[in-house]
Amino acid sequence: MRSVDPNKLKSGSKDTPQKGKGLDTRLAPTRAMVLCPILRRAAPRPSTGPSPASLAAETRDDHARLAEAVGLAHAIGLDVANSGTVPVARPQPGTLFGRGKVEELKGIIAAEGVELVIVDHALAPVQQRNLEKAWKAKVLDRTGLILEIFGERAQTREGRLQVELAHLTYQKSRLVRSWTHLERQRGGVGFLGGPGETQIEADRRALQEKIVRIRRELDQVKRTRALHREGRKRVPYPTVALVGYTNAGKSTLFNALTGAAVEAKDQLFATLDPTMREVSLPQGTKVILSDTVGFISNLPTNLIAAFRATLEEVLEADLILHVRDISSDESGAQRDDVEHVLKELGVDTATDDNRVLEIWNKIDLLDAEDAVEVRNMAARKGALCVSAVTGTGMEALCAMIEDRLNDKAKLVTLTLEPDEGALMSWLHDNAHVLDTRTDEYGSTTIELRISREKLERFNRRRGGAPVAAE
Ligand code: GTP
Repeated sequence: MRSVDPNKLKSGSKDTPQKGKGLDTRLAPTRAMVLCPILRRAAPRPSTGPSPASLAAETRDDHARLAEAVGLAHAIGLDVANSGTVPVARPQPGTLFGRGKVEELKGIIAAEGVELVIVDHALAPVQQRNLEKAWKAKVLDRTGLILEIFGERAQTREGRLQVELAHLTYQKSRLVRSWTHLERQRGGVGFLGGPGETQIEADRRALQEKIVRIRRELDQVKRTRALHREGRKRVPYPTVALVGYTNAGKSTLFNALTGAAVEAKDQLFATLDPTMREVSLPQGTKVILSDTVGFISNLPTNLIAAFRATLEEVLEADLILHVRDISSDESGAQRDDVEHVLKELGVDTATDDNRVLEIWNKIDLLDAEDAVEVRNMAARKGALCVSAVTGTGMEALCAMIEDRLNDKAKLVTLTLEPDEGALMSWLHDNAHVLDTRTDEYGSTTIELRISREKLERFNRRRGGAPVAAE
């Protein structure tokens, strides 16, 4: 395990780092240090403390945690000068780290010219403020960092509003100077270009007014979005949503399945808002494929609430493909994280496994022996091994999607006579009615999606010539 001391800190590359989309590339990249506090014993939870998932995540391999945090920092174009884990035996209410450690880090921060310290943990406002004072550098905790990333990646109007609302609410709870949209709007440069204390008072009032305004706008956008979704329900195609841990390969798989030009690169959170495409699968099934935001460990619960609407597509999907990077040592822990978030969104993989299909991606990265073992395991668990890059397993994946969907729901058009009201309500209870049209004689033509088994039941109830799927 690496711990922070001047000799053990891992120096970052001095090359120009990857640039986040939203940052002004004319500015020199901000020099940052990434710290991963490792709390060994059960720590008392701070009031803004982590969720149970994050406590569990703290037992994760420290190196993987650190690598993820550094990856997140790169995702917003920071120049990561140093990174390291910091063991914390007894979390201090005022500073999280002990006094000695704070001093030791202060020396490193000054020597390295670090302007921004990312602490990959939840920090109480007072801890953030004290650390900023002690280190004379901006401090971002995990929530702050994720908000910055979400802010850069949000594509739709609703996504942007949600991020802004989450950001403002988070900011309002902190009396610290914060590198935020407000400062950027005023033309502040980088993390240290924030305003003075008087300005903060004015900002705080402005924040409250903005929060109210954004909530109102968001309500309006949500209403419009709900109308759009209603419209889409009438499109007689089932929807398939890709979910998974960040960097699992969702966008790459999405591209492989659609040929669409969606961003797919080795950068965390390349996607935020769901991207949707209509796709015709080889056996002719048309589906709407939707790519979603990548999940991460430790996603603060307040952010889950803020992004719930963005992920509503997942809740409504007929089939959820859970894409996993099976070559990662962290694959199991990542699956648990994704399942935890899905559960918070109302999709329980334990009871809803008919709707969730695990796709084990990056099989090309395993050596031959491991690949055989993994394939056998996948077969036992009903998962499918693919490589979105080489194309291995794509045919089987398409066939599996089609089988699942076709087994689940057939598109059917039928006409009910005026005296068949009981059957009409049975259909409403047992099928997904897409459209109804009643003619001048009272006959109703209904377009619906219904499972094979339910269609058979319907035919038995009705008697006469059976209705067939289209
Ligand atoms: P987020 O948007 O951050 O959630 O990521 P994502 O899950 O959409 O991952 P993305 O498709 O951007 O892929 C991440 C990296 O993994 C890229 O560098 C891809 O080229 C790589 N990758 C994706 N699938 C495969 C695969 O099957 N094999 C290999 N070797 N690399 C892959």
